[in-house]
Amino acid sequence: MSTKIHSVPVALGERAYDVHIGAGILPQLGGLAQTLGSELGQKCAVVTDSTVAPLYSEAVLASLKESGYLPTLVTVPAGEASKALGVAEQVCDAMIAAGLDRKSWVVALGGGVVGDLAGFVAAIYYRGIPFVQIPTTVIAQVDSAVGGKTGVNATHGKNLIGAFHQPRFVLADVTTLQTLPPREFNEGIAEIVKHAAIRDRSLLESLATPNLQFEPEALARVIRRNVEIKAAIVAADEHETQGLRALLNFGHTVGHGIENAAGYGRFLHGEAISLGLVAACRLSVLKAGLAPEESQLLLDALARFQLPLRLPGDISTESLMAALRTDKKFAQGQVRFVLCPRLGEAFVSNEVTLEEIRAAVEALR
Ligand code: NAD
Ligand code: GLY
Repeated sequence: MSTKIHSVPVALGERAYDVHIGAGILPQLGGLAQTLGSELGQKCAVVTDSTVAPLYSEAVLASLKESGYLPTLVTVPAGEASKALGVAEQVCDAMIAAGLDRKSWVVALGGGVVGDLAGFVAAIYYRGIPFVQIPTTVIAQVDSAVGGKTGVNATHGKNLIGAFHQPRFVLADVTTLQTLPPREFNEGIAEIVKHAAIRDRSLLESLATPNLQFEPEALARVIRRNVEIKAAIVAADEHETQGLRALLNFGHTVGHGIENAAGYGRFLHGEAISLGLVAACRLSVLKAGLAPEESQLLLDALARFQLPLRLPGDISTESLMAALRTDKKFAQGQVRFVLCPRLGEAFVSNEVTLEEIRAAVEALR
């Protein structure tokens, strides 16, 4: 198996770091950590979930120990419900009990849930300690592990409690994606389709590789291109104040509303985003002149990976619109909606009305 590593820099000045991408590179964790010298103390917490722990924690712990680190394994239940303040507190308590202090660091081993949770713990533990991301889902490798958004959900909405905290590096081993059940692999494709829509239509062609999940080299190329896209946006607008990072929310306004209205657990994150992308494509055709054929290319890519294009009848438009109003993207009641005028481009529009969003949701039925 190839152990070649591609490193994509995230150019953030003193917070700059690399995203290392390759097949079979998990055992290189300890060595990569050592390159940071005394920045990373001897003790660390490997935070993971109950599904990922039996698959990859042994290799991660072994690599850390071989390089002289003293890791403590902290396992949370798999699933979105672990992205909660109470769970963050439990992880902090386990770290305190294990004697981790301000010189210690955190390894986030898992999907976007573990990455967001463990990154948030690292942001608040002793007022902030370093952390490293080892993303093991498609969503985490192409999106959530890069960019430093960490956090947990509140009762009233997703990601409402959080902090920007950049990792010290990211290690994305694409072979870990082979153990994802097909549904979990496919959900990640939604974020890739998003990147294709806003930055690079050629990604749609690379998604056509047969049996992509089990083609490490093709997969590494796809992950790398997505990381390049995300890294460039994050480097230009780290804190989402310049209007650029907001473009990554294409499909997410309605998507987050659906996740909220349906209750966490019914749809996987990427499945809700798929529906959000369908609504965003429709609004892009209506409001930004996106050619219907180009919109169809995006929808076809979602359909090829069995992602949902239709909203089940029992999720009411009212509950979805109510959930949507709690979204961070609604700045003081004004809708800031990302539109795609042609494949590879996007902009934030203030001209999409709630009524138009409601109609796009209705059209999902
Ligand atoms: P997840 O972390 O819940 O992972 C999905 C499932 O796959 C879980 O059951 C997990 O245990 C399992 N799993 C993980 N890796 C596996 C592997 N290699 N083999 C087998 N099973 C594995 O969810 P996700 O889809 O990775 O991420 C969704 C979360 O990410 C959401 O909470 C979303 O809000 C967040 N997110 C954050 C950002 C950000 O910028 N911080 C961006 C996008 C999404
Ligand atoms: N996933 C959106 C962002 O990182 O900004």
